[in-house]
Amino acid sequence: MKKVVVSAPGKLHLSGEHAVVYGEPAVLASISKRLYVTLEGVNSQDTAETSWDKIKNDSEYAAKIVRLFKKSHPIDLSRVKCKIASDIPAGAGLGSSAALAVALIAALSQWIGLPWDVARINELAYKAEQFQHGNPSGGDNTVVTYGGILWYRKELDFLKTFWLLSIKIPRSFPVFLLVNTGRAETTKELVEYVAKLQKKNRPVFALLLAEMENITRTMVRAIHDENEAALLSAIQKNQQLLERMGVVSVATKELLNKIESLGGAAKISGAGGRKVGSGVIWIASRHKQTITDLLKNYQFLPFEVQLGGEGVRREQIVL
Ligand code: MEV
Repeated sequence: MKKVVVSAPGKLHLSGEHAVVYGEPAVLASISKRLYVTLEGVNSQDTAETSWDKIKNDSEYAAKIVRLFKKSHPIDLSRVKCKIASDIPAGAGLGSSAALAVALIAALSQWIGLPWDVARINELAYKAEQFQHGNPSGGDNTVVTYGGILWYRKELDFLKTFWLLSIKIPRSFPVFLLVNTGRAETTKELVEYVAKLQKKNRPVFALLLAEMENITRTMVRAIHDENEAALLSAIQKNQQLLERMGVVSVATKELLNKIESLGGAAKISGAGGRKVGSGVIWIASRHKQTITDLLKNYQFLPFEVQLGGEGVRREQIVL
């Protein structure tokens, strides 16, 4: 029986989130958590429809992605069932929506026998992300597609440049923990909030962007030079800039201060969150147990991820 299984990773913004929407560079890494899309032929019409109904129920976005794909590639899905499984926490700033767009588009492309063309998959995934997020930079779908650690820049809507960095996270660096603090807002809402801030005070915002660019460069250099102190300081400065952009909630700021007082460096990663939590927090610390104990008080469970693994990947193709 015909079968296609494709997976795509989540992502972590090391630096430059939000600023990247305004043409500044960002550094992003793929993470070792993935989303899987399985397409399978069926004999009975019934099972196929039920599976697509379930997908529509679970994720409106998946249904939109399929509609978008159908616009450029006529595809008959009446005898195809689809399953989506993911270990990327959703709505946390870890690229779950970009992973869905990339993996689903890649799987549908394979199903109709298109060549494996990651640039084209990425392009279509960007269109889907525009649909979902309004004015995304395209960084999320690009790192999810290509994997690795990426230097990314949206120069113009139709011109995006990126560089797959040959650097690796040094083994000598402290352990990286992620923790999902949850959030009430969508990425779209947070990007719109920052856009309003920019319109209100352009000179101040321009300064913020320049500082963010500086920190993004400093962070890459710190990783390249295996300079732990410089990395920790860049993480903290990056966090301060995100706070000035207004995308960090009071509760998250308080938690980050506590992490710092225990000798760790931490920042939100991705769009953030203003009202309750601020999505995922990236923590670098040599005191893993102490940090874990602190997070337990907040009922948060941290997890470790490897950064910079493979991007979109064909897991199984039976055509
Ligand atoms: C969202 O993961 C990252 C943002 O910079 C938005 C974007 O890049 O499109 C907030």
